Amino acid sequence: MLRIEQLSFSYGAIRTLREVDMVMQPGEVTCVVGRNGVGKTTLLKNIMGLLKPNGGSITVDDRVVTSMTAYKRARIGLGLVPQGRQIFPRMTVEENLFVGLEASPVPTRKIPEFVYDLFPVLKEMKGRMGGDLSGGQQQQLAIARTLVGSPKVMLLDEPTEGIQPNIIQYIGQVLRQLAREQNMTIILVEQYLDFVHEFGDRFYLMNRGKSVASGTTDELTAELTKKYLSV
Ligand SMILES: Nc1ncnc2c1ncn2[C@@H]1O[C@H](COP(=O)(O)OP(=O)(O)OP(=O)(O)O)[C@@H](O)[C@H]1O
Ligand SMILES: [Mg+2]
Repeated sequence: MLRIEQLSFSYGAIRTLREVDMVMQPGEVTCVVGRNGVGKTTLLKNIMGLLKPNGGSITVDDRVVTSMTAYKRARIGLGLVPQGRQIFPRMTVEENLFVGLEASPVPTRKIPEFVYDLFPVLKEMKGRMGGDLSGGQQQQLAIARTLVGSPKVMLLDEPTEGIQPNIIQYIGQVLRQLAREQNMTIILVEQYLDFVHEFGDRFYLMNRGKSVASGTTDELTAELTKKYLSV
C-alpha cells in the first residue's frame, strides 16, 4: 500500500503540490486525473524520489520512504513508467529491458519470461532498436522495462498519450490483470477519461496542486468532470 500524507513540493518559489493526502491499495488501479499543469507528474516524481518534497511523507507498506534515494525506492518495489515513455532509442529492445533489471531486488541478468508473455511483440522485436518501434510498441517496452524490476507499486504517467486505440485497450487490460493477479498497487496518471472509467477502480482529482475529490471511478461524475477537467 502507498500512503501520501500532507505532501508539499515547490519548484523554487512556485508551490506545485499543496498538502496532498492519498492512499493507494494493492489489487487496485488508482487513477490521478486533472488538467494540464496541475501537478500530476510532479506528484509521481516525488513518490519515485526524483524530486524531494518540502514537507509531508510517503509510506510504502509501513516503510517511510520520504528521504530514500530513487535507486533505493526502485529496489524496494517502486517503479515508474515516465511520461513520454523515455525508452532508449539507440539501444535494442532487449538492452532497454536489461536497464530495467537494475531495479530488481535480486541481482539477475535474465529477462523474466512473463514480460514477453504479456507483450509478445517485444519478443519478436528483441533485436530491433527502440527508436524503430511504433508509439504503441514503445509504450509496451516502457511498461515492460519497469515490470522486469518486479515492482510492487507501479506508477504510470499518461501511458495512453499518442497511442492507437487497440493498444490502449490492451494496456488497460494488462494493468487490470497485474493489479488483480499479482496484487500490484497501480497508480495511473491519465487524462483520457474513458480509460479511467473502463480500467480504473478509484480516482483522485487534482486541481492546482491539491487533491480536490476522490472516490470510486463511478463517482467521477459529469459534474466533477465539467468543473475540473473540461477545457
Ligand atoms: N522543472 C520545472 N521547473 C519549474 N516549474 C515546473 C517544472 N516542471 C513543471 N513545472 C510546473 O509545475 C506545474 C506542474 O507541472 P506537472 O508537470 O507536474 O503537471 P502535470 O499535471 O503533469 O501536467 P501535464 O498533464 O501537462 O503532464 C506546471 O505549472 C509546470 O509548468
Ligand atoms: Mg504530466
